[in-house]
Amino acid sequence: MKNKNKKVVIIGTGETADIAYEYFTHDSDFEVIAFAVDADFIPEGGKHLGLPVFDLAHLDSQIDKSEIFVFVAISYNQLNRVRKKIFLRLKNTGFKFANYISSKAFVWHNVKIGENVMVLENNVIQYNVQIGNNVIIWSGNHIGHQTIIESHVYIASHAVISGFCHIGESCFIGVNATFNDKITVEKDCIIGSGAVVTKNTKPNLVYVGNPAKPLEKLTSYQVFKVSKELVDI
Ligand SMILES: CC(C)(COP(=O)(O)OP(=O)(O)OC[C@H]1O[C@@H](n2cnc3c(N)ncnc32)[C@H](O)[C@@H]1OP(=O)(O)O)[C@@H](O)C(=O)NCCC(=O)NCCS
Repeated sequence: MKNKNKKVVIIGTGETADIAYEYFTHDSDFEVIAFAVDADFIPEGGKHLGLPVFDLAHLDSQIDKSEIFVFVAISYNQLNRVRKKIFLRLKNTGFKFANYISSKAFVWHNVKIGENVMVLENNVIQYNVQIGNNVIIWSGNHIGHQTIIESHVYIASHAVISGFCHIGESCFIGVNATFNDKITVEKDCIIGSGAVVTKNTKPNLVYVGNPAKPLEKLTSYQVFKVSKELVDI
């Protein structure tokens, strides 16, 4: 067990929050001390996994934000906008963010990593990669040298992103997607499972297949639908 010399409050009480709790607890120097969610989502009894659940709107008065970190553990709902909205709200009010980088990930020494970033096991993140803020990188991806991953991106598992790629803000990268080297994926794209991306994309489209082509309609996946209020945050 690592030395628990830092404390973190996890934002969320869903599946991603539970997984974050597990990883922070068993593979980091953070002690999880509480969860926080919007008032409507506070469970009966005010506890989750035996820890207090604070009202996010009043988190300021519950914790000392100069001492305690937060981690926004929300998945890709509304094409990452729900996580982005809460991340920005907390950032603009002076909270500091924890990162979770698995001890079983390979991360080269000069990789630049932003805030509120989660990198799970068996990722290979090579020389000079840059990762923005609020990015989730699930297990087992290869992120090639000099690639840039912009903020609020979600990468599922076993993607191969070759060298010198540029993955735009808020994209979702499905399992087993492959990117040739020097590919630019414009912001707000959804790259389907197993897609082989051989050319730069346009923004805000869903790409599937080998070679990847845009779907005519936006995805029927409800989880990716962005509400009007969140489109331009
Ligand atoms: C890309 C994706 C979002 C599209 O979902 P959708 O909009 O609901 O797509 P539909 O099921 O309506 O399919 C539309 C068409 O695209 C095809 N298609 C969908 N996903 C495809 C994929 N990944 N590869 C190839 N073709 C695909 C379908 O067969 C269908 O073709 P048809 O019109 O000829 O029948 C979804 O297939 C996907 O890949 N999701 C990501 C899965 C993943 O990575 N999960 C991990 C979560 S952590």
